Amino acid sequence: MKVLGIESSCDETGVALVETRGSGLPVLLADALHSQIDMHQAYGGVVPELASRDHIRRVLPLAEMVLSQSGAKLADLDVVAYTRGPGLAGALLVGAGVACALGAALGKPVLGMHHLEGHLLSPFLSADPPQFPFVALLVSGGHTQLMRVDGVGRYQLLGETIDDAAGEAFDKSAKLMGLGYPGGPALSLLAREGDPRAFKLPRPLLHSGNLDFSFAGLKTAVLTQAKKLGEQLEARKADLAASTEAAIVEVLVKKSLAALDNTALQRLVVAGGVGANTNLRAQLDAACAQRNVRVHYPELHLCTDNGAMIAMAAAMRLQSGVQTATEVYAFDVKPRWPLAELNAA
Ligand code: KG4
Ligand code: ZN
Repeated sequence: MKVLGIESSCDETGVALVETRGSGLPVLLADALHSQIDMHQAYGGVVPELASRDHIRRVLPLAEMVLSQSGAKLADLDVVAYTRGPGLAGALLVGAGVACALGAALGKPVLGMHHLEGHLLSPFLSADPPQFPFVALLVSGGHTQLMRVDGVGRYQLLGETIDDAAGEAFDKSAKLMGLGYPGGPALSLLAREGDPRAFKLPRPLLHSGNLDFSFAGLKTAVLTQAKKLGEQLEARKADLAASTEAAIVEVLVKKSLAALDNTALQRLVVAGGVGANTNLRAQLDAACAQRNVRVHYPELHLCTDNGAMIAMAAAMRLQSGVQTATEVYAFDVKPRWPLAELNAA
């Protein structure tokens, strides 16, 4: 079975083709991506209307690229999957509209996917895929969650951010240091030249006793520190970046370890854009090695948004029988959509 996946929830247009082979893990046949980062950079963040228009421009050429890369024809597609939510409504509608038009024209079923389930299952595309059950640390620009994952469609929320997401903390701190958008990669690059102990920044909710996160206070502390530095900020920027990254990473690592303790599970999966952070990976690897816990990451280029994770998650849902694709093309999107709602399906 060949599943085409279309991702358009935010500022990346992604299209990919995966194939299920028996009961083994689905295989990625082709993957194409266009990032809108350059376009949004001038505005310091994603402009939703521009995002939607750009998805319209990119999605069909990307789909053609995927077909030609894989040698597949339109008629070979068995299912068309798209990101139904969460995300920007207008951006989601582009992927949903194209997927349903394609499905209707081909007489093939469509499947509306949850973006976070895509991230969650993206490590199954790596050379070292995990096995169920595992603890998942989902860290993106919009979400910071710890989940217990017992199988496809079996997700239990263990804790989440009560305000900003980890990626947002990176982005907002980077912005006030004048590092541009998206801030995570830029801040993390600069942090390599700084001293992570230079500034004492708060580790919000580190000792809260639960698995929730809070990053809004950290951003305020970075702002206060930046103001205090005044003209010295430029010279101390790398130290401030390193200290900010250290605070975010420490909280993410400690809470992940607590989640492993609470669930008595021995496997951790890290997914979402912040999962590309080198420092986070190094510290998680070190801490988990000490405890005999296996850590799995998506391939670096599949950490941020892409079509492959949507095609993969759709193929895994269909293969495991938790969902069937339908030939109903009356699409709707879900800009807000808690992942736990999938369990009822
Ligand atoms: O998963 P993603 O592509 O989009 C959402 O679904 O939100 O995640 C984007 C987030 C942004 O906040 C970006 O700054 C962050 O991931 N990010 C990073 C790194 N690469 C991307 N944060 C820290 N270090 C990185 N290397
Ligand atoms: Zn994402």
